[in-house]
Parts: sequence; C-alpha cells; structure tokens
Amino acid sequence: MRYGHFDDERREYVIDRPDTPLPWINYLGTEEYFGLVSNTAGGYSFYRDARLRRLTRYRYNNAPFDLGGRYLYVRDDATGDFWSPTWQPTRSPLDSYECRHGLSYTRIASARGGIRAETLYFVPLGETLEVWRVRVTNDRDTAAELSLFSSVEFCLWDAQDDATNFQRNFSTGQVEVADGVIYHKTEYRERRDHFAYFACSEPLAGFDTQRDTFLGPYRGWDQPAAVERGAAFDSEAHGWAPIGSHHVRLALAPGETREVVFVLGYAENPRTEKFDPPGSQTLNKRHVRPVIERWLRPETVAEGFAALGAYWDRLLGTLRVTTPDADTDRMVNIWNAYQCVVTFNMSRSASFYESGIGRGMGFRDSNQDLLGFVHMIPDRARQRILDIAATQMATGGAYHQYQPLTKRGNNDIGEGFNDDPLWLVLGVSAYVKETGDQTILDEPVPFDNVPGSEVSLYEHLRRSVTYTQERLGPHGLPLIGRADWNDCLNLNCFSDTPGEPFQTTENASGGGAESVFIAGQFVLAAKELAAIAELRGRDEEAAGYRAAAEKMTAVIIEHGWDGAWFRRAYDFHGHPVGSSENDEGQIFIEPQGMCVLGGVGLDDGLAVRALGSVAERLATPHGIILQQPAYSDYRIELGEISSYPPGYKENAGIFCHTNPWIMIAEAMVGHGDRAFDYYRSINPSAREAISEVHRCEPYVYAQMIAGRDAPTHGEAKNSWLTGTAAWNFVAITQWILGIRPELAGLRVDPVLPAAWSGFRATREFRSATYEITVRKAAGVSGRVAYLVVDGERIDGTVVPPAPAGAVVAVEAVIEQ
Ligand code: BGC
Repeated sequence: MRYGHFDDERREYVIDRPDTPLPWINYLGTEEYFGLVSNTAGGYSFYRDARLRRLTRYRYNNAPFDLGGRYLYVRDDATGDFWSPTWQPTRSPLDSYECRHGLSYTRIASARGGIRAETLYFVPLGETLEVWRVRVTNDRDTAAELSLFSSVEFCLWDAQDDATNFQRNFSTGQVEVADGVIYHKTEYRERRDHFAYFACSEPLAGFDTQRDTFLGPYRGWDQPAAVERGAAFDSEAHGWAPIGSHHVRLALAPGETREVVFVLGYAENPRTEKFDPPGSQTLNKRHVRPVIERWLRPETVAEGFAALGAYWDRLLGTLRVTTPDADTDRMVNIWNAYQCVVTFNMSRSASFYESGIGRGMGFRDSNQDLLGFVHMIPDRARQRILDIAATQMATGGAYHQYQPLTKRGNNDIGEGFNDDPLWLVLGVSAYVKETGDQTILDEPVPFDNVPGSEVSLYEHLRRSVTYTQERLGPHGLPLIGRADWNDCLNLNCFSDTPGEPFQTTENASGGGAESVFIAGQFVLAAKELAAIAELRGRDEEAAGYRAAAEKMTAVIIEHGWDGAWFRRAYDFHGHPVGSSENDEGQIFIEPQGMCVLGGVGLDDGLAVRALGSVAERLATPHGIILQQPAYSDYRIELGEISSYPPGYKENAGIFCHTNPWIMIAEAMVGHGDRAFDYYRSINPSAREAISEVHRCEPYVYAQMIAGRDAPTHGEAKNSWLTGTAAWNFVAITQWILGIRPELAGLRVDPVLPAAWSGFRATREFRSATYEITVRKAAGVSGRVAYLVVDGERIDGTVVPPAPAGAVVAVEAVIEQ
C-alpha cells in the first residue's frame, strides 16, 4: 500500500494523506540553520547544534508521535470554524491534502470549505532563518473573512536543560515585541548573545507570546483559545513558556489569493552592542531589521527559493545515471544523494529517532558519511576531515562522539571503540581519490584540539593504524575495546561468576576480547594507507603497511575463519563469537563484508564461500540479517546486543548499514545478480508499494528493518541518519555501476545484473565531465572487456584524469 508517489521530474515525494504510518519527515537548511519538518508540519529548528542552540521546542515520544511544529491555523471568521492547513494539530477533516517533500524544502497544501492554503517552508542559502510562505486562496464564490494564526513554541536554547530544569526555566523566559516582530531573548541578559525572531509580512491584528494564554487553561495545540475566539490576547511571556504567534486578518474576494510570509530566524549580537541603548534591557536589533524586511518580501522569497533549487542542481549534477531500473535511478540521482548530504550535515544528532541531545558528531559515523558526500562538496568534506581529525588523541584513539560547538566528547564517551581511528584512514583516502588533493595530508592538525600539538594529517593516519597494531589480543587479532562498528557487541563484560569482578557495558573497554571485523578493516585501511604512502614517495612505509596487511590477513585466516564463514570475534574469555561452535549468534554479517572489502579470501575461495553462507543463512526478502540465530536471552558476556528482543536492531535485525558491504563484496567476486538483489531488497523506493509493512519514509533509508525473528518482520525504524545512506550510495554507484574514483583516475568497472543491457551515466570528476556508456547484451554477466575513451581503446578499466573542463566520452564494453 502506498501513501503517496514519487514526482521524479520535480524531485519530490508527494504524500497524499496526512495519516502516514509514522511521521514522514524532511530537512530544511543546508549550512548552519537547520530544521526538521514532518508531513504535517511537525518538527523543530536549530542553529548549528541541535542541543545547544535549539530555536523551537519539540517533545519527543509524544502521543500522537509527532506533536509540536510550525503550525498555522486558518479560521473562518464568519462561522468560527478553524483548522490546520497542515492537518496537525487540529486534525480537522480536509477536503484535499498534499505534502511535497523536496530537496531542503517542504510544501503542504490543503483545502477545507472552499479555502485553499499552501505553505512552503525552506531555509535560504547563506541565511540563518527559515521562511514560511503561505498562500491562501478563496475558491468560494462569495467573499471570505478569514483569520490566519502562526505559532511556534520557543525552546530555551539548551534542549537538554529545556526538557529538565523546570524550577529554573519557568522563570527565565523573556520576549520582546517590536514593530510586529516577536523576539525571543531568554538568557540573553547574561552570558549568551543570541536571540530568535519571528516576523510576519502583514500588519498584525494581534499576537501572543505566552503559551498558556494563547492556548487557554487545560487546552492543547488542537484548540487554542485565541484561535477559537478569533482574537489574539497580545500576551507577553514572563517566564513559563514563550511562544510566537501572529494573528493576521485576511478579507478575500472570490478567487483571490493572498501571500503571507513568516520568517523565523536566529541572530547574534556582539557582546558590546547587546542592548540599545546600552545599559537598557532592550535588544539591539539594528542589524536584523534589514534581514527581516528583505525576507518578508515575496520577490526575495521567490529568488531565495530558486537559488536553493540551483544549489541542488549543482550538487546532484555531479552524478546522473540512467539505468533499466527506475528505483535505482531515483535513489542515485535524487534521494540517496540527498540523504547523504543530510546525514553528512546532521551526523546522528537530530531526527525523529535521535533527540538532538544525546549524540553529537560521531567519529566513525562522520568518516563514513563522507563516503557518500565527498563528490558533491569536496571542500566541506575537506573541512570535516580536518575537524574530525582534530578530535583524535595522540594515542591514535578518538572521541567516539563529540559536540560540534565545543569539539569535546559528549556523554563522557571517550576512547575505547577500537574501530574508530581506522575510519579516518578510509575517509581521507576517499577524499584524496575523489579530488586528487594531496595537500590535505600536510595540513597541521592538533590532537584533541589542543593548540601546539599539531602534526600533519598524514601522521594522524599513521597513528590510526598504529593504534590497532598496539592493541592486539591473544590470537593476534585487534582488541575490540568497548565495541567495534557494532556498538552493542560489548565483549569485555565479564560474566558475574563468583570471584570475577562484574563489569557493565558502560565501562567495558579493558580486557582481551578481539574483533575479526576490526581485523578486516585494518587490512583495508593498511592497504589504503600504503597507497597514500606510495603516492607521497614513502615507499618503505608503504611496504611496511602492505606487510602489516598481509600479516593480519594470515591471522584472520588462521583464527578468524570458521570453516564456512568468518568468525565475528573472541570474547573476554577467549571463546569464539559468530562460530558454528556457538549455539546462537553463529554467523554475523559484518566480518563477511569487511574481510572481503579488505581483500581477504579473494584468492583462495574463502570470500565466495563466506558470501554463500550469507546468502544461505542471513538473506531475506527484506534485506540481510545481522546475525543468526538470534539471541533468545540476555548474555552478560555479549553485552547490549542480547538486550534486544530477537529480530530487532543488532540482535538479528536487518541492520541496513551492513548490507552494502555484502553488495560490494558480491560485486568484488563478480556476482552482479546477487549484489543487485540485495540492493533492491532494502532500496526504500523499491519498497514503496509495501509502505504499510515498511512504515518509514519510502524515499530514504532507515537504519534498521525488523529481521525474520521479529513479529514485525519487514518494518523499518530509525530513518534518515544512518551510515546506510553513504554505504548504499557507494555500493550502487562505485561497485555495481562500477564508477569508482581511485588515486590514478576514474575506474569504470561495473558488475551488473545479467538481465540489464548496460546503462548511461554522467560523472563530474576532478573538474572534468565523463559521459559514460556501458554496453552489454542482456543475459550476459561478465566484467568489462575493454574501455574506449574518446574513441581510443585503452588497457585496463581506469580512465586517467582529464584536464579541467574536458568532456570525456567513455564506453565500457561487457562481452561475456
Ligand atoms: C551507530 C553506529 C554503529 C551502529 C551499529 C549506530 O546507531 O551510529 O556508529 O556502527 O549503530 O551498532
């Protein structure tokens, strides 16, 4: 069952009923000011940091799930009937409804009783504000006397404090209303120099800034007293819950449309010019007035919206494909790329499943997010790499997560996830391959942001590798620490047998548990670093890294191979995990993917064998399960993984992030059909028709789909912010379609499903454009026989970089 459809032409997903199984959301903002917006206008906004600079309040885990947002009310002043043109919060029946989620904008249109309202929400480029452009049309054949009310609930900035510290917060709220603009200035008087403003293009009939006056006692957002009676109270918030609400009266002739613009923004004042006049308590708003005036003008709004479209044209123009599969085209050309950008911007901070409070930027996460983003805005990827690397410790270890504004680890999550440092090598290598920019390797980067501690980025990479080498366990495999990629596999939790200290998942980083996954990742990273070292003429170092990779490969084959697949790990007691010796959790997906990505088992048939085991034991029509059999009970020696009921999350859920590793591995061994089947099984667009099962948005990947042990097999959860976005993009574009940036140039080496008869692509790469045509007879499933580049047949499958501005025609021919 569908709840909407794709409009590929306009790059939109069109939702045609408001009661989607879950809120289907979108993101506003591309630079510093961001917002989440659901298909019923729920969500919130923040400036740079979802925790520390939250502009509007949102209560998670609400009933209904999604409550609180950028709400409008239309009131027919002749009858007193009022409703929300975005359906929420009044949920009054609408005669028509349509939500179009586009690239960094959302447009919600509806009609009731002959009154049509369409609201466009977006954040203009280069600004720290959002625009709501509302168009109200009178489709009746009589005049209409209407009221339009806006509303936002302000967050008192630090979202964590806002949600907990009520004894203080109920007394701190402050607003100012001047010339029809509502200013939210809580905490402005002391250490903070920022404020929010909410403005309207029309003369006001009234306003409200105190929530409980606007709503009335014991009322919710579905029935505000001010809206019901048709007049604002002109309330001023002193403490309690500051809001912003404008009341505008609209008299519309039959057929008339009126445009009303609301602008919600963030501003900072220099410390010395906070108040006007100095010493008073009146905000200095001189510098924001012109900004507000400009954005309240319809022409500015139209231009700003067009500029946003052009921005996305540029970004998505980097890679365009035309394949025989519409779901592939749509994801590669629009939605997967878009999700990669959003994930890059948000890391794992703010979604409808991430509160924006708990997690900041993940070291591992952000490095992987780069993989799907770097071709679109390499400069920002460069900046991000330097930022992430600056949080690394001199040991090579890293904060697992850090707050973007403070650059410090949040929630005391320090080192100990022993895979973290190696992702930096993979992120940097992807950047250098894409851009050819080696200067980044010489950039001075501090440790833990301590001035004076700078070494080159290249040295950071060396330390990442050394970090693993210095932390090997009894079998010579890397120590897992607190966990590796699988946050929930906490193998240094001792069992609480008498005489042994009890250790919980929170501090389980000591101990000798080992990870085969990190071993595979190490092989991959060491090879990547060897190639970078060679590029810099450091041949001896390169040879050292290659030898280290070989040595680790041998250890994996000796201690990490279980007979038909790669083992997952060894626990604190030295027992294998992910082995046929185990009663549950016998085979895990992660090492099958990562070891093959590192090249382990490619020459001796182990890779093919392992992938066969994955197909046999882990694959389902809804994607590949993380491990089997699921843990039926909690096991202290495995930690959090076994805390989940069978089929969910890391306990045998389909953890989508890991699936593309298998797609890539299958492509590496030449299995085009299997790689593509796996790709389609979790492609959200290909799952659109089963939206009642999948339940999350059909235009973006979710982190997890319930596994076969779950009663809700096939149900997705935790959409948007997941490494799944970047890795699927890499799997389909670089390995299945085979357009892969390498240090020496652009490789074109597709591994396609047999039924396809080729495809076409346009790829921008290092300032040149490659027009790629892949020709293959349907039914054939071989590899590229030869490339023809600008009419000349070349050896191998790497097209050397062309001069900037060149347009290069590449033809790849698959013959058997
Ligand atoms: C985290 C990832 C982790 C994954 C698997 C996600 O929630 O963001 O860093 O690899 O879970 O545990």
